Amino acid sequence: MSQEIVLNYRLSDGTVRTVDARVGDTVMDTAIENDIDDVVAECGGNLICATCHVYLDDATAALFEEPDDAELDMLEGVAAERRKHSRLSCQLVVKAELADHTIETPERQ
Ligand code: FES
Repeated sequence: MSQEIVLNYRLSDGTVRTVDARVGDTVMDTAIENDIDDVVAECGGNLICATCHVYLDDATAALFEEPDDAELDMLEGVAAERRKHSRLSCQLVVKAELADHTIETPERQ
């Protein structure tokens, strides 16, 4: 059985949703499965839509590799403000160390 962790999403309306996330799924998959509507993910994780944009804090960003060139290119096209730790959630794979961290979603995708 796959390992599960607890992950928080702080939505653009200020509410926080706490969900179970499977290690190995992406942060985008987890949002879609839990009806986090702020994450649209039009392309289904193929890195061609930039509608799975999220914001990470410093501690959460440090858990992941830096975005690669393809993700950086797509981040140029995000609809909401781009911040220091803007990421595309389809490129973020849930890992045990992500437990109890909070992913922030932008006001539009
Ligand atoms: S779901 Fe389309 S780029 Fe992430």
